[in-house]
Order: sequence, then structure tokens, then C-alpha cells
Amino acid sequence: MKNKGYSRSAELLERAGRVLAGGVSSEFRKYNHPHAIFYTHGEGSHICDVDGNDYLDFTLSQGPLILGHSHPEVLKAVNDYSSLGQLYAGQHLREIELAEKLHEVIPSAELMRFCLDGSEAVQTALRVARAKTGRGKFLRFEGHYHGWLDNVAWGLSTPSVEALGSRENPEVYPWSSGLAEHARDEFIILPWNDIELVRQTLAAHHGEIAAIITEPVMCNNGCILPEEGYLAGLRGLCDQYRIALIFDEVITGFRLSLGGAQQYFGVTPDMSIFAKAIASGYPISAIVGRREWMELIAESRVIHAGTMNAGNPTVAAALATIEVLERENPYERMFRLGRRLMDGLREAARGHHPDLLIQGPGPMFNLGFTDLARVKDYRDTLRYDKPKLGRFIAALHDEGIRVIGRGLWYISAAHTEADIDRAIEVSSRVFRQ
Ligand SMILES: Cc1ncc(COP(=O)(O)O)c(C=O)c1O
Repeated sequence: MKNKGYSRSAELLERAGRVLAGGVSSEFRKYNHPHAIFYTHGEGSHICDVDGNDYLDFTLSQGPLILGHSHPEVLKAVNDYSSLGQLYAGQHLREIELAEKLHEVIPSAELMRFCLDGSEAVQTALRVARAKTGRGKFLRFEGHYHGWLDNVAWGLSTPSVEALGSRENPEVYPWSSGLAEHARDEFIILPWNDIELVRQTLAAHHGEIAAIITEPVMCNNGCILPEEGYLAGLRGLCDQYRIALIFDEVITGFRLSLGGAQQYFGVTPDMSIFAKAIASGYPISAIVGRREWMELIAESRVIHAGTMNAGNPTVAAALATIEVLERENPYERMFRLGRRLMDGLREAARGHHPDLLIQGPGPMFNLGFTDLARVKDYRDTLRYDKPKLGRFIAALHDEGIRVIGRGLWYISAAHTEADIDRAIEVSSRVFRQ
């Protein structure tokens, strides 16, 4: 079923461009097909745009909508609790209830603080790590996204794979102009999924390193699972050198399980960041961690603040999201549907696209075209055929299937078996074209 074109979105984009920089409010929204799109409403697994196109949505607003769009219980909770007030600049009961709940479901969450988004929660964790260890740097990995702020907006782009240089001592490129020059001195970067590299680097540099920060599944580039024993290996090295292990669970949190990747893989970090899916699209994140690290915030040795933190609508949204997830426990289903979709897409491409590679755990997965049998780090992702992926995603979009442009698919609790069938059927047609 061909869609109705994008002319109204194009008109609005032109109008928006006169007052919004680039016509959007986040860089990633520019890169839709065929340009930034304006939406009118979303419900369940569907979202509709101003041209009257209806999409089966595997974007889920870049991950947050674990229950799908406009879940009635979330909307009611937000509405009810906001009617009592919006932001008290003080404490409230439901904020404690949310913290108690996260403490119950996330293995490392002995103490926590709420923030608004993943980017600032990441910075809070790094600050705690520096304060406790007295060391200035953190170790991070090529292709891992930890937000857009200065000290993490590196290692996300490169002129070429060769330009990344040696694996032991990589070249690193800024993602934006205008980054503070000293931001480059705050970290050491390595390819991911290679524990020997981390071991060697720490042997030489552990005296400078306060933290290792990692996405426990490299969702932002290729949806790559950690090698067997890799996360446990990082845990062991952090214990050995008294370095903070920080899991950036902005995507994996509430997606692999309520307790995040740390529960799924059975490796407990010192601190972790939960955002996106914890509140179904409302702006709240949590920096959670073991008491011995987080007590620096409790004692005001590390300052963490924010006027808008833990406002009524966001806390209500998070509590309602958890309540639904606990009651319905959709995880087995999300894994099953995700895996069925992955298998169906592989089957649909058979005989047409031997270069198709799909990998990921199920509730999220990545689709791309490459000559590699498996992609295991950022350098491998540079061998994806991006123009071909772009054509595939654009063709799906024209047929009413919305997927993140870099090939990432998210499954929500709202997706149905029929949604999966439809995605496979449309993809099958597009593969044949
Ligand atoms: C793994 C990861 N960390 C951090 C962030 C930044 O979070 P936010 O966009 O909420 O600031 C993102 C956002 O996509 C992310 O995927």
C-alpha cells in the first residue's frame, strides 16, 4: 500500500526552518525519509503523520515507548498526578515510591537520583567516579553513544575505517565542532568487545582511570551483543584496579528486562543510567548505583541538581509504566516477537540478499547489509552498505513501516503477531524490488 506522499510535512518543514534551527529540536530528527516528518498522533504500535500516512512503528520514539504510543494507564496516571501540581521544588511521596521500586527491580540500585535525560545522568556518574577515585579520565569505546555533551561526543564518526588507526591506540574524531579542546583529554577510547585490549590498557593507565563506561549491548551501532564473558571481564578488571564500572542502560534498561542488561547478563555494575523506556516518553532518567559510590551525592561531596527533576508527570509516568510491565510481564513475548521478526526478515531476503545481516537479542535488533558474517565492534559496522540500507528503509517507510534509519528496530509490548506478519510481508516485497 503506497502512502500519500509527504507534501504537508515538506511545507511544515519549510515553515519550521524559519524559526527552529534545521526545522527540528534534535539532530537525529533531521534524518527521516525523505526529510523530517511531522506527526499528528500515535496509538499502540502505530503513528500517523500530517499527510495522513499511518506507520507501523518500530522506532518507538528512539526507544522510550516500551508500552507503545499513548498507553491509557500512563496517560491517566500523568493526568491524575499533574492535576495535584506539576513541580514542587521539594519532595513528594510518589518520588520515594518510584525510587523504592527501582531499588527492588534493578540489581545495582542501592541509591539513586533522578534527572531529566540520559546525557546528564551519564555526566553525574562520571563525576561521582572522578570524585571517589581521585582520578581524572574514563575509558570508553568506539561507536558507543553516551549523549551529546562535550566529553562523550567523540568516537562516533570517522573519515574511514583506516583513519581509526591502531586498535591499541585509536585515533578519535569529534562528532561536532565547538567541543572544548580539553574534553579530548578526559577519556581513553578503545574498540569494544576485546577484553585483552582493556587489560593491556589498564595495566599501563589504571592510575589515571576513574571509570569504564559501556553500553552493555552496543545498541547504537549494530546492536552488538557482548562477547561471552566480556562484561564479567570488565567487572573483574574494575574490581582489580578499584575503577567504577558504569553501564549505560539508557536503551537496555526496561528493554531486556526490568532490571536491565545487568539482570539479563548477571553482571552488576557500580553505577548505571536508566532513561528512555522507564517512563514511556516522559523526561525522566535515573543514575542508580551501589551505596559506596552514590553516597558521595548523599553527602554533598558530589553535587547533582536540576530544577525540573522528578516532576509529577514524569514520576507518575514511570510508576505507571513499571506497574504495567510488572503486571503484564511482556518480556517473553517481546523476545519471541522480535526473534520471529528477525527470522522472518532473514527468510524473506533469502536468495535475493546474501549480504543481509540481522543481529540483536530480539526486543531490539539491527538490520544491515555487509560482507561480514558477524559484526562485533564499531570498526566492523563501517563495512555496512549504508546507501543500500538507506534505500531499504526508505522503501519500507513509503509502505508504512517506520524503522530507525541506521537499521535499528525496537519491539514494544503493544506490537502484535499481526504487526510482525505485516512487517515481514512488506519487507519481503521490498527485498524483491
Ligand atoms: C546508550 C545511550 N546513552 C545515552 C543517551 C543519551 O540520552 P538522552 O538522549 O536521553 O540524553 C542515549 C540516547 O540515545 C543512548 O542511546
